Amino acid sequence: MNLTALPEQLPVQHRDSDLATLVPALMQSRQTILPKRLAAPGPDAGQLELILNAAASAPDHGQLLPWRFVIVPQAARAALAEVFGAALVERDASATPEQVAQAQEKAHRSPLLMLLVVDGECGNPDIDLAERIVSAGCAVQNMLLMATALGYGSALTSGKALKSDGLRRLFGLAQGEHALCFVSMGSVQSRKIARLRPAPGDFVSTLSPDGQIVAGF
Ligand SMILES: Cc1cc2nc3c(=O)[nH]c(=O)nc-3n(C[C@H](O)[C@H](O)[C@H](O)COP(=O)(O)O)c2cc1C
Repeated sequence: MNLTALPEQLPVQHRDSDLATLVPALMQSRQTILPKRLAAPGPDAGQLELILNAAASAPDHGQLLPWRFVIVPQAARAALAEVFGAALVERDASATPEQVAQAQEKAHRSPLLMLLVVDGECGNPDIDLAERIVSAGCAVQNMLLMATALGYGSALTSGKALKSDGLRRLFGLAQGEHALCFVSMGSVQSRKIARLRPAPGDFVSTLSPDGQIVAGF
């Protein structure tokens, strides 16, 4: 069965039962595989297109398209490494050359590396930054799931360098834009045991008719 097909394109008999089994299996099989555990090959051009297209299915209030992804190919990793090193020295002038080299090395991990950027100011100002970040989160989760479906490991990573002037310059961020996280994808070299997931009872409560918040659902 083609996981990339849209539900309305699926034969009627597949719409409910198969997807309702496949989708949770896909979601549960996604786990963070940190960039140091991701090696070549990464997604090829066709797979990258599938992964990027997955982002386009995210909910987007007002269709602002408030997020974008910047691919960092191998040829641009040295420039990113410079930024990582400089950001560390900016934060900690006493950083040793080894620590700087360690920070720089992170830019070279993972065959596919992208930066996720959200725009807090484009379009309708009533749609605030929180809504835009939710949309960006949905977009990137769709991409992680698509990468998982294609057999790749993936991770989101952050770090203080995201807020550095050097990174903002390198990625040409406009004033209202924020670098949210890096997205890494590649072939899994090793994986940890998947973490225990929370149960709905851990994160769901219900508003009762008399205005009480009651645990569970
Ligand atoms: C925006 C964002 C940034 C993250 N940055 C890091 C990071 O810098 N380092 C890291 O080890 N994990 C990072 N993570 C991954 C989380 O640690 C991971 O999702 C969490 O441990 C749950 O594991 P799972 O993804 O396997 O379910 C980040 C996750 C998100 C959503």
